[in-house]
Amino acid sequence: MSTNFSMVAAHSRRPAGEDNIFAINNAAQQAAKVHGADKVVNASVGALLDDDGKLSILPSVIELLKSLPAVEYAAYAPIAGLPSFLEASKKAVFRDQMPEGYIEAIATPGGSGAIRHTIWNYSNGGDYILTPDWYWGPYKTIAEEHGRAIATYTLFDEKDQFNLQSFADKVEELLKKQDQLVILLNSPANNPTGYSLTNEEWEAVLNYLKKEASSPEKKITLFVDIAYIDFAGETNECRSFMKQFGGLPENILTIMAFSMSKGYTLYGMRCGAMICVSANKAVAEEFKAVNQFSNRGVWSNGTRPAMTVLAQIFESPQLLTQVEKERNTLQQMLSERAEVFLENARKANLKICPYKAGFFITIPCSNPEAVTKELQKDLIFAVPMGKGIRFAVCSVPKDQCAIVPEKLAQAIAKFE
Ligand SMILES: Cc1ncc(COP(=O)(O)O)c(C=O)c1O
Repeated sequence: MSTNFSMVAAHSRRPAGEDNIFAINNAAQQAAKVHGADKVVNASVGALLDDDGKLSILPSVIELLKSLPAVEYAAYAPIAGLPSFLEASKKAVFRDQMPEGYIEAIATPGGSGAIRHTIWNYSNGGDYILTPDWYWGPYKTIAEEHGRAIATYTLFDEKDQFNLQSFADKVEELLKKQDQLVILLNSPANNPTGYSLTNEEWEAVLNYLKKEASSPEKKITLFVDIAYIDFAGETNECRSFMKQFGGLPENILTIMAFSMSKGYTLYGMRCGAMICVSANKAVAEEFKAVNQFSNRGVWSNGTRPAMTVLAQIFESPQLLTQVEKERNTLQQMLSERAEVFLENARKANLKICPYKAGFFITIPCSNPEAVTKELQKDLIFAVPMGKGIRFAVCSVPKDQCAIVPEKLAQAIAKFE
């Protein structure tokens, strides 16, 4: 029998292989069994862990979930999502920074589901989807799964700020080739760099898009991935850029991706929403209809108990305060780890991408595969990416964050 024999359709033939991040995590766990967990730095996990390596949770959220009556678990949710959840998700996304315009929401299985529907419904087959050169790997997977490809611009300029020129050049180039353009922008607390665009940078991005949108046949969808927003700083300050999404031309549609994975520590419940902002009522109504149809056509409906939890949190000021109090403790733990890492990176002269907040710090380097292998000799497990190494401060205790930069600097020097 031929080993090359394949049963799948041509468009689904892909090389088999384990997910890189999960493979490194497995290797770290194996090393922990051999050498002891305290000797191993496992910086591969993209979830917030406490200092003992256990998943950090918000107790009030889990209690709420556990207190729901059986019927809440058993029953379907409406295809578009529970109406009370959809209202709550708008509040969770915008808080006091709601932009002007028509705003509609559709429940999706996490932010991932929102990415899927946006790519499918707002770009054409064969189109390029635009994202920066530092991006979350599944953007490419989701694009390719749906017959699209990823195009990238350079995220940082020589001053380590948002590279507007590179962004603009790429938008212009793509809009010469295609009429629909989906732009995936993960900010604040970008994965993998920890960068957050400033309000001025957002303004520059939108001004440029408005210029491109002066041709009415061009349709631009700006997908704002805020997966890490609840760990990106003060609630309303880190959302202050959102008001700028009001009053845009009708051929620029903003879609915000809401996720309960990180901000509510409900990764496994697969709950989130996509929320549109448009100056045109018909565009918002079409958004609702089209994405509800896609829900039915892909996964039917979402996870009802998680939806009910969010609705209850935003219906009770006391509950919301409690959730925020617990989350602040986690945010504090995360910022302390990042600060220690940054401080030691400065001491070791280690160049890192401009980090402002979030789960990851990225170290640009020319030979990431070799450097991560070298680090494994010291039982440090980080993830090689195209142009650098992703270190998950979210999953590494503070004392370990302190010792890693020096080791990283040494390992990089070896291969330069
Ligand atoms: C940048 C980014 N966007 C979106 C997501 C989506 O997460 P979920 O589908 O669990 O909401 C993640 C999760 O790791 C992420 O890192």
